[in-house]
Parts: sequence; C-alpha cells; structure tokens
Amino acid sequence: MRVLVTGGAGFIGSHLCERLVSLGHDVVCIDNFNDFYDPRLKKANIKGIRMRTYRADIRDYSKLQRIFRKEKPSKIVHLAAMAGVRPSIKAPGLYNEVNVTGTLNLLELSRLHKVGHFIFGSSSSVYGMNSRVPFSEDDATDNMISPYAATKRIGEYYCRVYSSLHGMDITCLRFFTVYGPRCRPDLAAMKFMTKIDSNEPLEFYGDGSTMRDYTYVDDIVDGIVAALGKRFRYEIINLGDSKPVKLKDMLQTIEAALKKKAIVIRKPIPPGDVVATFADIRKAKKLLGYRPKVAFRIGIAKMAKWYRETR
Ligand SMILES: NC(=O)c1ccc[n+]([C@@H]2O[C@H](COP(=O)([O-])OP(=O)(O)OC[C@H]3O[C@@H](n4cnc5c(N)ncnc54)[C@H](O)[C@@H]3O)[C@@H](O)[C@H]2O)c1
Repeated sequence: MRVLVTGGAGFIGSHLCERLVSLGHDVVCIDNFNDFYDPRLKKANIKGIRMRTYRADIRDYSKLQRIFRKEKPSKIVHLAAMAGVRPSIKAPGLYNEVNVTGTLNLLELSRLHKVGHFIFGSSSSVYGMNSRVPFSEDDATDNMISPYAATKRIGEYYCRVYSSLHGMDITCLRFFTVYGPRCRPDLAAMKFMTKIDSNEPLEFYGDGSTMRDYTYVDDIVDGIVAALGKRFRYEIINLGDSKPVKLKDMLQTIEAALKKKAIVIRKPIPPGDVVATFADIRKAKKLLGYRPKVAFRIGIAKMAKWYRETR
C-alpha cells in the first residue's frame, strides 16, 4: 500500500512513517521543515527511514498536485499542521492558512486522484472547556478556546463535507496530548524534561491540578495504523490513554525518571489552555480494536532514556 504522510518529519509523523515502512508499506512523506521548532530535529527524526520525502508546503497547491500525479498514493494520513494552542493565539491567520486551507488542498487533490482513504490528525482541543468527562465523540464542540482548536474543528467539517459530497472514506482521529521520544520541544513534558535536566527553572502553570490525558506516541501510531486498515465513510474517533494525569504528578514523574528536582516558577494558567482533557475511548476500542498499552510512568521512563541517549 502506498501511503502519503503529511507532516511526516514531525514528532508523530516520523514515528508513523517508521512503523509503516517496517510493516512493508511504500511511504511518501511531505513536510516543509518549517522553523516552528528546529528543523534539524525534523531531519534527525526521519534519518534512516526508507521512504521518499518531499519538501513541500501544503499551502502550495501546484506543488502538491505534482507530487500526487507522480506518486499516486492510495491512502493519506494528514498530520501536517501548525500545532500548539498558545502560539495560535499570536498567529491565527497562519494557523488558518496551514490547518484549514492546507487541509482543503489535500482533500481536493485526494478527491481528484481518487485516494481510497483519508485520515485526518485532529485534536482533543476541539472539546475546549467542556466539563463533562470523559470527552465523547458525540459531545458538543461549542466551547473551544483557541484558534488552533477552531482550525482542527473546521478541518473535520471539511472532511465531513468531502465524505458526504464526494463519497470519500475519511476518518478524523482526535489525538490527546501525545508524548514520547522525539516529542515536540514546545510540549510541557518535553519542556519539563529539558529544563530539569539542565538545572534551569521551569514555568509551572496554575496549582498543578490541571489534567491531561497523556498518550504515548506508539499507542497513537497503533491507532492510526488500525484506522488505515479499516474503511469508514466518515467517523470521528478519540485516541487517548483515558487516564488523565495532573500537572503536578506529571512533574513528579519526570523528576523521578531523571532523578533530579525541578526549579519551579509558578505562573497563572495561560489563555487558551483548557482545565482538563480525558478521552472516552470506547469507540476506538470498538471500531479499531484500540488498546493503549503504555502506562504514563513507563512512557516517561522511555522518553527520558531517549532524551539522555540523544543529548
Ligand atoms: N502532539 C500532540 O500532542 C498532538 C495532539 C493533538 C493533535 N496533534 C496533531 O497531530 C499532528 C502532528 O503533530 P506533532 O505533535 O507531530 O507536530 P509536529 O510539529 O512535530 O509535526 C507537524 C509537521 O508538519 C510540518 N508542517 C507544518 N506546516 C506545514 C506546511 N505548511 N506544509 C508542510 N508541512 C508542514 C512540520 O514541519 C512538522 O514536521 C498535527 O496535525 C497536530 O495538530 C498533535
């Protein structure tokens, strides 16, 4: 199977590409290696993965068109995006161009090239400030509090339209705070690990009671690969661990893994940050046979091992 992975040089994308290649698939990666974080990390992420990589921007329709004509992918996993809640507040226009227009470009080309199955990397942020937990796919998404969340929800809406209008098989997977080796440097678990290890003070938001449903990257990849093996006309499916961890416990787990204490600077919770995320994963279990396997403490230990080996 020839799979096109957008954002394939990123954190989740590189793990997915590696897995797909190891399963014997023909993988094509598109990434623009932007400087949202150090592009050298992205190059390192994909070093040694046997796939064809195109440096291309998903906003550039004609360049994408040339790649589609040449590669004729049978399936697409669309992960390229401007990620991150807080930076989206400063650059909503950029987030909209990449996450909405870029997604629309890929849907349109997938329609024209009769791509069999389109998987969209969405986010738990669409649940926003919903207070009923765990978050279920049927819950309302009227409480989003960041431009990033809005762009992901709009992406899902476009997927829905393309599925019903053009009969395309599309699955939107809502990822819940992913962590693990090659983690994005802006994510809290990675920031904490870096700061603690280098004895630098870290910013700790709120009283530590905010919760995130941290999900180990291999579990997310399991879910994406399972979705690639199924065909649904249109489904939205949560991929989380379904065991939320408090910020203060996350910090302690990282301290224990590194055997070092953090220097903490307390700050208020920034705008755009939600209080809690917590995935209801019954649908993923039922439709994908998804079973997250890596407990948070084990996942952080694996991430710390990778961190130490690569520094
Ligand atoms: N990491 C998480 O916790 C998390 C949670 C929910 C959803 N997601 C979503 O999963 C996907 C992957 O996230 P990630 O954490 O691996 O982020 P990442 O930033 O490491 O990966 C995204 C990749 O997309 C590429 N990219 C960005 N803009 C592009 C453009 N215009 N054209 C081509 N490539 C472009 C980047 O260079 C990067 O390599 C994203 O869609 C993100 O919104 C991630």
